[in-house]
Amino acid sequence: MIIRPMKEEDLKDVHQIEQASFTMAWSYESFQEVLETSYRYYIVAEEEGQILGFAGMSLIVDEADIENIAVSREHRRRGLGRELLRALKTRAMEQEMSVMFLEVRVSNTPAVCLYESEGFVPVGRRKDYYEAPREDALLYALKL
Ligand SMILES: CC(C)(COP(=O)(O)OP(=O)(O)OC[C@H]1O[C@@H](n2cnc3c(N)ncnc32)[C@H](O)[C@@H]1OP(=O)(O)O)[C@@H](O)C(=O)NCCC(=O)NCCS
Repeated sequence: MIIRPMKEEDLKDVHQIEQASFTMAWSYESFQEVLETSYRYYIVAEEEGQILGFAGMSLIVDEADIENIAVSREHRRRGLGRELLRALKTRAMEQEMSVMFLEVRVSNTPAVCLYESEGFVPVGRRKDYYEAPREDALLYALKL
């Protein structure tokens, strides 16, 4: 398994994982836009030519904001989510960011457990941040 920057050729698979993972899935065009935006960094986990997961963030001034992360259902609980998250962390540190932020649904136990086990701490709650279903977001931060 390798982790490498996301490319145009990956977008079909990435979008498929996105749709299978979220009720409010990003459009294919949103991922195309990512590739055209210089302040965003997106990566994929690839094994034998197959895309198993992806993650990405924006890097603005000294703050990294994790925008998206998902692993295909059949390949969850293999440590891929953690590896993707660590790769973002490494990049953010290389780019001299001072803090990373992310939002997560309050009910998303797998993601919350992953973030907390990687040192992220809850710093706030955004009321009704998500739709379908409507739900609060927990805001997490990691000082780099
Ligand atoms: C969150 C997600 C990316 C984790 O990916 P993953 O590859 O399965 O995660 P890992 O195998 O690296 O697990 C890392 C840690 O996360 C936690 N975790 C992962 N899945 C979990 C689950 N179902 N229940 C509880 N904890 C879980 C555990 O602490 C785990 O460590 P452990 O295996 O040593 O116990 C994956 O569940 C996913 O794609 N979910 C749908 C999309 C999503 O919700 N993204 C987050 C949006 S904020």
